[in-house]
Amino acid sequence: MKRMAVFTSGGDAPGMNACIRAVVRSATYHNVEVFGVMRGYEGMIRGRLHRMESSAVSNTIQKGGTILKSARSSEFKTHEGRKKAYQQLRHFDIEGLVAIGGDGTFTAAKVFHEEFGLPIIGCPGTIDNDIYGTDYTIGYDTAVNTALEAIDKIRDTADSHNRVFFIEVMGRDSGYIAVQSGIGGGAEIIVSPENSNTTEDIINALRKGKLHHKASAIVLVAEGEVMGNATKLAAEVQAATEGLDIRVTTLGHIQRGGSPTASDRILASRTGVGAVEGLLNGKTSVMAGIQNNHLVYTPFDEAINKKKPINQELLRMVKILSI
Ligand code: F6P
Repeated sequence: MKRMAVFTSGGDAPGMNACIRAVVRSATYHNVEVFGVMRGYEGMIRGRLHRMESSAVSNTIQKGGTILKSARSSEFKTHEGRKKAYQQLRHFDIEGLVAIGGDGTFTAAKVFHEEFGLPIIGCPGTIDNDIYGTDYTIGYDTAVNTALEAIDKIRDTADSHNRVFFIEVMGRDSGYIAVQSGIGGGAEIIVSPENSNTTEDIINALRKGKLHHKASAIVLVAEGEVMGNATKLAAEVQAATEGLDIRVTTLGHIQRGGSPTASDRILASRTGVGAVEGLLNGKTSVMAGIQNNHLVYTPFDEAINKKKPINQELLRMVKILSI
């Protein structure tokens, strides 16, 4: 292989730049030219590719966002759109692709490979940590730490005013960020897709807290399929109780920004090198991930469709620690 291209797609995640850097540097190390595609599949369709030398990624490992920009492309969902993208890649003599993104990115990559045969390897880049075949995804650790910092600050004001705060975190339909930041932030109750906590459970937990003379409480809510989950739950609890001073904070896109943590930089670097070396060894339609501290390649099909379960022990622990 003489030439490959790299792109980021879907929701950005801290550590994507560290991954791009690893792809550019490891390909260069193996005497392969690298092209960067701007704005994911959207830019691929429009031929927005440029050559990336090793120096193009200097001073980027610590930066949040993605220097290649990102987008969610509706045109790439059509065969016509994918054909245009393939023609553009051929025009640039691209022989392999590294796709950094989440399940939407890999779903599109899988179809693209099936239709045109171009070798593609993915790196798991999403704050949601909802990809099978890797213990963690790039950006997740940073997002959890960002959420934790916010929870700590909210706890200060909650405690001063004897208030109950409903805090909504991201994760689409996965509760990883909620569970991890909830445990770290000492939340009284966590509402996530992986547990079946009802409004009644929240009220009971808050009553229990009062009995134990807790002045404030944090209810950590995973956004679920749509943002606004916490607002809805807080209104239900307010309507069913008396005397609770409730406030809602939605952390939103703050969780997607910021300088990546050490763990995210290392994960990004390892999977970036893994993707390039996988392509050079003839692998395709797989994701490079880290499981039990080992680099593993998981077929896109499994990475997208298999459910990565949340450790039930963590959920049990929340009940013990929040009394
Ligand atoms: O997949 C990452 C993510 O941040 C989810 O947690 C969230 O549901 C979604 O993207 C938000 O997407 P957008 O930035 O397009 O509003």
